[in-house]
Amino acid sequence: MVSFKELGLVNTREMFAKAVKGGYAIPAFNFNNMEQLQAIIQAAAELRSPVILQVSKGARNYANQTLLRYMAQGAVEYAKELGWENPQIVLHLDHGDSFELCKSCVDFGFSSVMIDASSLPYEDNIALTKKVVDYAHQYDVTVEAELGVLAGVEEEVASEVSHYTKPEEVVDFATRTGCDSLAISIGTSHGAYKFKPEQCTRDPKTGRLVPPPLAFDVLKGVEEQLPGFPIVLHGSSSVPQEYVDMINKYGGKMPDAVGIPEEQLRLASKSAVCKINIDSDSRLAMTAAVRKDLYENPGHFDPRQYLKPARDEMKKMYIHKIVEVLGSDGKA
Ligand code: G3H
Ligand code: 13P
Ligand code: ZN
Repeated sequence: MVSFKELGLVNTREMFAKAVKGGYAIPAFNFNNMEQLQAIIQAAAELRSPVILQVSKGARNYANQTLLRYMAQGAVEYAKELGWENPQIVLHLDHGDSFELCKSCVDFGFSSVMIDASSLPYEDNIALTKKVVDYAHQYDVTVEAELGVLAGVEEEVASEVSHYTKPEEVVDFATRTGCDSLAISIGTSHGAYKFKPEQCTRDPKTGRLVPPPLAFDVLKGVEEQLPGFPIVLHGSSSVPQEYVDMINKYGGKMPDAVGIPEEQLRLASKSAVCKINIDSDSRLAMTAAVRKDLYENPGHFDPRQYLKPARDEMKKMYIHKIVEVLGSDGKA
């Protein structure tokens, strides 16, 4: 048993309370590799932004859970080296799908876990979430739960249709499970293709897809039922069109990739939404920069030659999210 406290990590309790009160959101960035982690920590340390490092099932399969955990431990020390005296870094299990997995993360030094039982019947979601909460809270590890189902095209978290969260269920759910935060469904989804072209309109000037707005009425309903309770938005990448264009220009093929407009995320950050999950935008930044570098420099074969611009591009993107969208800079 390793406590996250020994690793210099923090849980989400205090940072969420401050974020809800202060009208901003904490960035939750997924990481799978060293360059992503360096870019996240450099951005957070320079801006003094609290940050959540997320480990997904895909990340565990790709990079190994043990290795990622030690990388997060190293990230705390790296942040201090960068001059951030008291780093506010959470190591979070993203989309945990069983009690055993959540337990193993708690035992291994994660400071926060998500139990995603949103695809189960309501009572089963409550029972499994409560079991995880009862275990995690013994070690002061915070727990994110999910109510409502996100539509998505990504493997592992796919669901055919989006079922918005029902505001009338949230008080019962939060009370009976004791969860610390709640992910809700208001129209976001995972991946780089969040909406089908037929769900969107087209901007006549640019020809770009314009997605339908998020269900802010559902968010408002949830906030009215659970005033001040920390709310989480998954699937919140914006799919910046400059990255999609770069990818397409330098040999990629991503037609009609579309995300959540940033002004809607800005609005959400000012509400009880205090954690915003971003993964796809980092993938896009990295891929765009790598494609460009290799196209322009056919002789490059040292990975550092094309991964350095990729890391720089991701850092630029993380800084933009923190400062211009979530407003978490200067909060740690
Ligand atoms: O929730 C989905 C995240 O973007 C992680 O996806 O399992 O492919 O790493 P992944
Ligand atoms: P995106 O695919 O929109 O980046 O969402 C990531 C996410 O929700 C991770 O849990
Ligand atoms: Zn997610």
